[in-house]
Amino acid sequence: MKIEENNMSKQKENKLTFFTDWKYAPSPEATDHIRLQNQYELFINGKFVKPNSGKYFETINPATEKTIARIADANEKDVDTAVKAARQAYNKTWRKMPAKERAKYIFRIARLMQERARELAVIESMNGGKPIRESRDIDVPLAANHFFYYAGWADKLEYAFPNRSPKPLGVAGQIIPWNFPLLMAAWKIAPALATGNTVVLKPAETTPLTALKLAEIIQESGLPDGVVNIVTGFGATGAAIVNHKDVDKIAFTGSTNVGKWIQKATAGTDKKLTLELGGKAANIIFEDAPINQAVEGIVNGIFFNQGHVCCAGSRLFIQESVADEVIQKLKDRLETLIVGDPLDKNTDIGAINSKAQLQKINDYLKIGKADEAEMYQSNCEIPKKGFFVRPTLFLNTAQSHRISQEEIFGPVLAIQTFRTIEEVIEKANNIPYGLSAGVWTDKGSRIFNLTSKLRAGVVWANTYNKFDPTSPFGGYKESGFGREGGLHGLMPYLKF
Ligand code: NAI
Ligand code: MG
Repeated sequence: MKIEENNMSKQKENKLTFFTDWKYAPSPEATDHIRLQNQYELFINGKFVKPNSGKYFETINPATEKTIARIADANEKDVDTAVKAARQAYNKTWRKMPAKERAKYIFRIARLMQERARELAVIESMNGGKPIRESRDIDVPLAANHFFYYAGWADKLEYAFPNRSPKPLGVAGQIIPWNFPLLMAAWKIAPALATGNTVVLKPAETTPLTALKLAEIIQESGLPDGVVNIVTGFGATGAAIVNHKDVDKIAFTGSTNVGKWIQKATAGTDKKLTLELGGKAANIIFEDAPINQAVEGIVNGIFFNQGHVCCAGSRLFIQESVADEVIQKLKDRLETLIVGDPLDKNTDIGAINSKAQLQKINDYLKIGKADEAEMYQSNCEIPKKGFFVRPTLFLNTAQSHRISQEEIFGPVLAIQTFRTIEEVIEKANNIPYGLSAGVWTDKGSRIFNLTSKLRAGVVWANTYNKFDPTSPFGGYKESGFGREGGLHGLMPYLKF
């Protein structure tokens, strides 16, 4: 026994030396091919126009804290101009155009996005802080795929909803967050266009650049003027869209607080509304799960993309009999994660999107410690400049801890153990959110049992964070309502 223990600790030592002894050589993505201006205007009625406000704000690179460009800050009057352009385009061209012609424009946007995929990926990582591997392999291709997918539906709406004569709503106001800037723009714009609506979209204040590049692509595609308008600014710009009398529909993705405010602001109006808000997903590992695969899935679910994912697997429930093994493997894997330059192809965890978000995450680390959850952080180096945080596990958390209840939106995983299936279902559901969940088990019947009992819009089984344009996404409870993606994603933009 003694000898075995010695061997074990030796093995552990070796492992640690192995992890810390060598590093990957830097492998930065080239940036010489991207085209960025020093200043961006508003995209209204097919043209880039100066804001009526005369005001601009700076957008930075969160990995370096350096300014990338100045961005127009749209006021109420600018929003009004954009809505008028969208209304005119709706009445004069877009609603009258044969659906198969509309589809051609949407296809063209998708193809242009593919042609400029490298540039879009680099700019997404520079402005948002996410690893280039993520923006290159996930965000940009998925964004283009959404346009391809919805282009296909444009002239088939009668088949999608047989005997129901679907009609567009008119002008859609769309407000998106900073965690998937280009992808969220695609999720919002593509189904709106396919169903014959026109758009006023506002990207998040910290990540306007890829939406503005998309505006250039839209201009290049020859889409009729005013069909898509992109206005940049802060919460006040978003509120001006929400409150505008001539907007027929609001689609919002972001924080639960702002979502609740929008719900109040639109109550009593005939604006249609969809909200995609926060989450606190449970990833559940049973003792018969393929453990290594599950550990990789958990890591992918919460640490990649800095945990800036509404459906991030931020709570982990491990069946007691395998808890030690899973936690040890998680700790080992944590040590191998590379935190740093988002543009480096080896980076796993990039920069936190903003100083405010970093502050929020650090506050939650303090809250977790104060609640006496056991904190474990990777020993990795983090860059001195920019907004970075080490990937963090909280062991022995309780259901009542704030870190197990509230959305942190960072690379922080709250871990609990469980014994029975009833117990874990109860705990997983006992939360204000219900966006997504993950189940890891070898047993198909258990997967079906859980998918029917977990109150979550998406339940992944033996995988995590997998997206496809054909599959609907959206929440229960405080995670919002309405679905995006798939056939379901057409409905919020139609009346029957
Ligand atoms: P936020 O909800 O303030 O921002 C999302 C978008 O809403 C941005 O474009 C923002 O300019 C706009 N906005 C802000 N106030 C508005 C208003 N009164 N009317 C209309 N639009 C408005 O989110 P924030 O402050 O950036 O992040 C706070 C927290 O929200 C995060 O820490 C995270 O927990 C959560 N969040 C969830 C997201 C999700 O995908 N479900 C995305 C972003 C944040
Ligand atoms: Mg906010």
